[in-house]
Amino acid sequence: MGSSDVHTFSQSPPPAHILLVEDEIDIREALCAQLQDEGHHVVSTESGTEALSLLQQSPFDILLTDVMIPGMNGIELVEQIAQFPTVPVTIVMTGYGSVEMAVQAIKAGAFDFLQKPFSVEVLSATIESALRVKSLRNENVELRRTVKGQFGLGNLISASETMKQVFRLIECVADTESTVLILGESGTGKELIAQTTHFHSERRKGCLIPVNCGAIPEALLESELFGHEKGAFTGAVATRIGRFELAAGGTIFLDEIGDLSPPLQVKILRVLQERTFERVGGARTYKADARVIAATNQDLEELVANKLFREDLYYRLNVVPILVPPLRHRTEDIPLLIEHFINQFNERRAAKLTGASPDAMSLLCSYQWPGNVRELSNIVERMAILKRNGLIETEDLPEKIRSPHAPSIANVPAAIPVGGINLSSTVEEFENRLIIEALERTNWVKSKAAQLLHINRTTLIEKLKKKSLAEVVANRTGRDVNPVISF
Ligand SMILES: Nc1ncnc2c1ncn2[C@@H]1O[C@H](COP(=O)(O)OP(=O)(O)OP(=O)(O)O)[C@@H](O)[C@H]1O
Ligand SMILES: [Mg+2]
Repeated sequence: MGSSDVHTFSQSPPPAHILLVEDEIDIREALCAQLQDEGHHVVSTESGTEALSLLQQSPFDILLTDVMIPGMNGIELVEQIAQFPTVPVTIVMTGYGSVEMAVQAIKAGAFDFLQKPFSVEVLSATIESALRVKSLRNENVELRRTVKGQFGLGNLISASETMKQVFRLIECVADTESTVLILGESGTGKELIAQTTHFHSERRKGCLIPVNCGAIPEALLESELFGHEKGAFTGAVATRIGRFELAAGGTIFLDEIGDLSPPLQVKILRVLQERTFERVGGARTYKADARVIAATNQDLEELVANKLFREDLYYRLNVVPILVPPLRHRTEDIPLLIEHFINQFNERRAAKLTGASPDAMSLLCSYQWPGNVRELSNIVERMAILKRNGLIETEDLPEKIRSPHAPSIANVPAAIPVGGINLSSTVEEFENRLIIEALERTNWVKSKAAQLLHINRTTLIEKLKKKSLAEVVANRTGRDVNPVISF
């Protein structure tokens, strides 16, 4: 099925390579003629399946497709090509003025839609902006390649000497079977380092299985790690394999290892010493064939000194420690990371940020970054959403960066105005602000925010149910509080 006519015509350079998918012959020919008149190379077909095979054979800059096409509809086509290594910028033509179809197409990854019938001018303008997006995408890919080539290892970016040492260590240790312990403040990139280590090792053919020891309730963690047999406990209706088994041939990443309860510390110690484990409620002993990488932002030595963490486990884990420096100790990374996140969020958020002004950059470099790289990434993402294009200026930056010496809310002296004060609502507002700050710093991870506030995770969850707080969170995130915040 499907006729495919190849028309080429070059006039004003640079012409775009356009794939046109339209089953109505009159429309197809008219569009083809118009696009060729504008100097583009056009390949046209009437069928979705044929379009897919043409796209697999050679790269196109633009895909202009009808929604209703034989073989596969336009939206399915957009979904399928999203997986290709080079994706054309897609414009979908909707025949019935169906807004729903257009929305679906955009959600599937299309750049824009044209509602039929459309004029010659509208088509030209849409093609022109699609081409601008295409060149921006190419530039981004190119930029990222150079930045990564010069200053990166995997997805890790850095120009600082201390991080270069970390890169060297990762490269040395990756291909060994050694247990690795990654230590660093929150948001410094510990998880990214674990991923990079796994993907630089022979074990990359297996899976990297993460377990957040601080986020999974203690009662469930043992079964998460080692699996359970049917009937091992109430609710164990079927046998389930654990993450050590899933990671066989690969790597298990034990994140927040400092949060492990004493009984589980014993069990992990045994896996590290004997390389064996049993499922909960099971008698059979399994061999553990997973390389262990652990991480924590806690001071494990202090936990050991306070008898909260087993010394023997600490030494078993600490075979190759990787110390990740906080961002404030490697300020030369800040401009590079800003560039990296601008590229990333320009693409993800369809923004056109071009950089930061010298004044803004100097404020960004002198800020202390308590939330490290994650906080920086969050700020650039916020700029991509709110500012959208141009240079980031000082006035665009959050107050805490603009006035780094402003007193923190904890130090604000209480002042009762002449008319008096409503104690309970003021205290509630103060509490809400602290909770929001903790959530923002920890990227909305409830268990970490609770840790920062020295309260239980369940207490935090209770507090988040309060109407006044739920409203603030909804305003900040644009969403309902409970689905937004993860463990
Ligand atoms: N050197 C880096 N280059 C590029 N991106 C980075 C770098 N370091 C961290 N990031 C990014 O910053 C964010 C936080 O990193 P990551 O989750 O690895 O930190 P973490 O140390 O595990 O934090 P936490 O202790 O809070 O779990 C991620 O989006 C990560 O991709
Ligand atoms: Mg982490």
